[in-house]
Order: sequence, then C-alpha cells, then structure tokens
Amino acid sequence: MSSSYTPWRSSASNRRPTQPTDNSRNPGLIFPDLGPAPSPKPIIRLLAFGLIIFLGLLQFLPASHFRHPSDPLRNWVPLNPHSSPSSTSKSEGSYEEDGMVHVVSWMECLDLKVLAVLANSTLSSSRYPDLVQFHFFTPEGNKDKVSFYKLKVLFPDSNLELHGQEEVKDIIRIATSEAEYASFNFAEIAPFVIPSVHQSLRKFIYVSPDLILKGKVEELTGIDLSTHAIAAAEDCSKRLNSYVNSDVLDAIQRSASKPWVSVTPYEKDACMPDLSLLLIDARKLQKESLEAVLWWSKVLNWSDRSSKRNPAIALALYNRYLKLSNSWLVKEPASLEITEKSMVIHYDGPKLVCSEFRNDTVPESSHGNLWMKYLPSMSNQILVS
Ligand SMILES: *[C@@H]1O[C@H](CO)[C@@H](O)[C@H](O)[C@H]1NC(C)=O
Ligand SMILES: *[C@@H]1O[C@H](CO)[C@@H](O)[C@H](O)[C@H]1NC(C)=O
Ligand SMILES: *[C@@H]1O[C@H](CO)[C@@H](O)[C@H](O)[C@H]1NC(C)=O
Repeated sequence: MSSSYTPWRSSASNRRPTQPTDNSRNPGLIFPDLGPAPSPKPIIRLLAFGLIIFLGLLQFLPASHFRHPSDPLRNWVPLNPHSSPSSTSKSEGSYEEDGMVHVVSWMECLDLKVLAVLANSTLSSSRYPDLVQFHFFTPEGNKDKVSFYKLKVLFPDSNLELHGQEEVKDIIRIATSEAEYASFNFAEIAPFVIPSVHQSLRKFIYVSPDLILKGKVEELTGIDLSTHAIAAAEDCSKRLNSYVNSDVLDAIQRSASKPWVSVTPYEKDACMPDLSLLLIDARKLQKESLEAVLWWSKVLNWSDRSSKRNPAIALALYNRYLKLSNSWLVKEPASLEITEKSMVIHYDGPKLVCSEFRNDTVPESSHGNLWMKYLPSMSNQILVS
C-alpha cells in the first residue's frame, strides 16, 4: 500500500522542485510549441481595420461608369459622356452627374391616359429607358397613391415620381398680384420655378404632357447649351407682332432699363419659341428669370384673360435661348410624312382638359389614332377604372 503511495508522492515531489527552477532559468525552452501567438502592434491592427472599412465605404461612391445589359460588348460607358472634364469638377456637385435623363412635366388637370402615352413614347424611343426618370407635377402629387400605382403597373421598370404643385404655385403667388396669379398658365411658368423647389434637378427636359416623343431623349439632353440656360425650337408660324403691339414694345424697349430688356429694338416678326419642349440647365438659369417673366406680364398688362397666349415668356427669352433644330419643333400629326420625320408631335387622343374654372375636367374627343400605338390595350382598363 505504502509502496503504491510512495511513487506517486516521490514523483510529485521530484517533479515539483524542477519546474520552478527550469522555468526561472529558461522560460522559452519548456513549451516551445505552445508559446503565445506573436501579438501585432496595436497600430498595425488599427491600420488593417481602417483599410477594411475604407474598402467597404468605396462602394457608396457614386458610380462613374456603367455597362448596359443589352450591349453585347459590355463596354464601360461614362455616365455623362457629354460633360467636359472641367464640368465634372467637384464644385458642381454630384446631382446632375447621376447619369439620368430627367423628363419633367406639369399637368393642371390630371389625365393619366395622356401621361401614359407620354411615358410610353418616351421610353419606347429612348436608347436606355432604364436611365429615364419622369417627374410629373400633378394637382395631388405624391398624395395620389392610386394614380402612382396605376402608372407603376403600366411601367413597372420605369423611374417615375409624382410631385405636388403647391410649392411652385406658392412661389408664384408670393411674387404676383391676385389678378395676375389667376391669369397665369402655370405650365408655362413652372419650368422657371421648379429648379428652385427641386434643387436636385439640374439639366432636364421640360415637356408639355400632351406630346408623343419620338426622338431620343438622350440626344436632347446631350446638346451643349454653352452659355444658355434654355434651349427651345422656334415656331415661325407664330410671330412676336401678333402677340404684342409693336409700338408698345418699342416704347418699353426705349424707356425701361432692365437687364432683361433688349438694348436693341425688338424684331417685330421674330419667331416665338415653342414652349412645349424645353431643355433647361438650371445651373445657368438666372435667378431673375422668373422676375423677368412677371415683369413683362405686368408691363403688358396681362391680367386680361380673354387675350391670346401670354408673350411674357417669349420676351423674357428673347435672344437668350439656344435654338433647337426644327426637328424638335412640336408638329401636328397631319400626315404620315410629318409623323415619321418629326421627333415630337402633339398627342391626338381623347383627353381631359381643365374647365374654365380649373376645378373640374372636361373631356375632349380624339382627332387621330396615333396615340393608340403608345397605349397598351390593357392600360385603358387600368387607367379608367
Ligand atoms: C389693364 O387691363 C384691364 C382690363 O383688361 C384694365 O381694366 C386696366 O385698366 C388695365 N391697366 C393698365 C395699367 O393699363
Ligand atoms: C367650379 O367653379 C364654378 C364657379 O366657381 C362653379 O360654378 C362650379 O360648380 C364648380 N364646379 C365644381 C365641380 O366644383
Ligand atoms: C408601349 O405600348 C406598346 C403597345 O401600345 C407596348 O407594346 C410597349 O411595350 C409599351 N412600352 C412600354 C415601355 O411600356
């Protein structure tokens, strides 16, 4: 018994004293395999962690190039091929470099069928429909979820937003008298005000909703405006002197010294700009452009609603806009030849227009059938129900 006990004791007592002596003499030799892992300096650890975070954050940078899925060669295309290197400098911000083609429209009395034809024709003729973004200003704006989802059903892949009109109208209301305010065609003035309300809209196409777009919108936004803020086609079927009395205009030109009044006499038969399709660069739009329009309305006493279209915008734009080629002039779909050649034609289907008091809609019948090409048959049921 004692013999079995002793070896344990003796071995234990033999071992015990050796350990501390060896340990104290030569610590590294006892457990050479189990030594602690080499611990990196804290600064290295911090740097590695920082590098991982940095690489992670890189993906939040805005994209600068893209590859279109339908491009067989999968070429990398810069998002904004038309901007010169200097215009992509940081100071201009990243909004307009988002690579999207912004199409803005304003509709005083909601008619989804007209908007659907505009959207379908724009997308069908666009080169990269997934880069087109619609901004429709409607009476109810984004509060009108039903209209929004109806459009989303028809154009599931589209980038589409509904905006309200109040903010824009408030700015005009503050700047004008009540009588003037009531007489304005907001759809015509809105493009001058929208950039100050929606500052992310820099370069955009402003279209009247009752259009069928057959040209490529990318080609339009690609146009270099140079120093101009606005581009429009000239409509020579409408001349300045049929809108405003030449003598009155001469008197104003001689006596008023406003920056927006021409220093040289106005050409009496100057062609009017077609306001139903504009290319706008909001960065070059002067703050006074709205003031200029309102000023012209006032000096011409445009409270008179029975008169023809207000020439104030045409006068504010006089010699101050880039003239688009005639193919971008909105035409009536009068003949097959016109329809085929034109980039943009008037919507010829049935539509709802505002009543005289702007509080109700009145139906107007169609005068052609071109619009049907741009409205899938099932959409009628969706839009009407
Ligand atoms: C402006 O026109 C209205 C009617 O159209 C007239 O009553 C008013 O006197 C005119 N004002 C000026 C300043 O000419
Ligand atoms: C619209 O306004 C006019 C005059 O203010 C009024 O007579 C008419 O009943 C109104 N219509 C609707 C639908 O509110
Ligand atoms: C436009 O409408 C036509 C039929 O009218 C349809 O075939 C086409 O898919 C529509 N395009 C888009 C982008 O909705």
